[in-house]
Amino acid sequence: ESTLGAAAAQSGRYFGTAIASGRLGDSTYTSIANREFNSVTAENEMKIDATEPQRGQFNFAAADRVFNWAVQNGKQVRGHTLAWHSQQPGWMQNLSGGTLRQAMNDHIKGVMAHYKGKIAQWDVVNEAFADGSSGARRDSNLQRTGNDWIEDAFRTARAADPAAKLCYNDYNVENWTWAKTQAMYNMVKDFKQRGVPIDCVGFQSHFNSGSPYNSNFRTTLQNFAALGVDVAVTELDIQGAPATTYADVTKDCLAVPRCLGITVWGVRDTDSWRPEHTPLLFNGDGSKKPAYTAVLNALNGG
Ligand code: G3I
Repeated sequence: ESTLGAAAAQSGRYFGTAIASGRLGDSTYTSIANREFNSVTAENEMKIDATEPQRGQFNFAAADRVFNWAVQNGKQVRGHTLAWHSQQPGWMQNLSGGTLRQAMNDHIKGVMAHYKGKIAQWDVVNEAFADGSSGARRDSNLQRTGNDWIEDAFRTARAADPAAKLCYNDYNVENWTWAKTQAMYNMVKDFKQRGVPIDCVGFQSHFNSGSPYNSNFRTTLQNFAALGVDVAVTELDIQGAPATTYADVTKDCLAVPRCLGITVWGVRDTDSWRPEHTPLLFNGDGSKKPAYTAVLNALNGG
């Protein structure tokens, strides 16, 4: 196959990208995105500050621009994200305790109702673990509502849209030896044992160069899948876009039957949240980079 999406579909997977609503008027951007990818994640538009700018007043204008572009072009949509310490609107940043917990659940219900039955996977909770070696939860206003905030979010989400796969999503959890990875693993294992409704784990995969980010990524994906959840590479970008690393990550997903697919976090380097790292598959002029060819070949079994 000659595009990423079609090549991934050969094994029942998708190959997606993050889409920014503000770029949908750029025809170079949309023609690449439409040609190559068959899954879409809104880069910012489905986040809490965008969808509920005032408490109880939902605004899906920007989110729907991305969603409608995706659906009209035959792509599935990953929802991102419902409960997160970052990109909270001001009103939510100022809440705490039971009021915040209620607002979190109301937010999940409101957004999931709008897209009920139309989202393949939702990132229900994003980035809840601390960086470094502690293996602890990240301190945040949501965490301070009680350690059960994550399972509360997943239970609310399941009731709101039973058709969506419900994911936990995080970064720096790709290397099996890292404390953050182990902490996330223990949470998912506990959730599965206690019947908390979690279906998938998203590995963001924002890799820098020169560190063993992906050296045992396949082991990590396999170990999570063995807990009975699907796994996905949700925000892939790699500093300098080395072709071999991109191919390795692609092969790691292909090697794990429960790896649903790969999403790269933007189309061209100039669309990236970290353009100085030139971490994506297309140059700013829209031309294909060596990493693109490496990923396509890997998807085609090469
Ligand atoms: O839209 C406003 C604009 O009106 C304003 O003039 C401008 C001035 O700063 O800011 C614009 O908002 C920016 C927004 O991106 C849209 O471009 C925010 O400042 C900026 O913080 C925001 O960055 C996003 C970041 O998440 C915020 O946390 C990135 O685009 C987005 O790629 C990034 O994505 C995250 C994932 O959601 C979670 N995992 C990590 C990943 C990378 O940080």
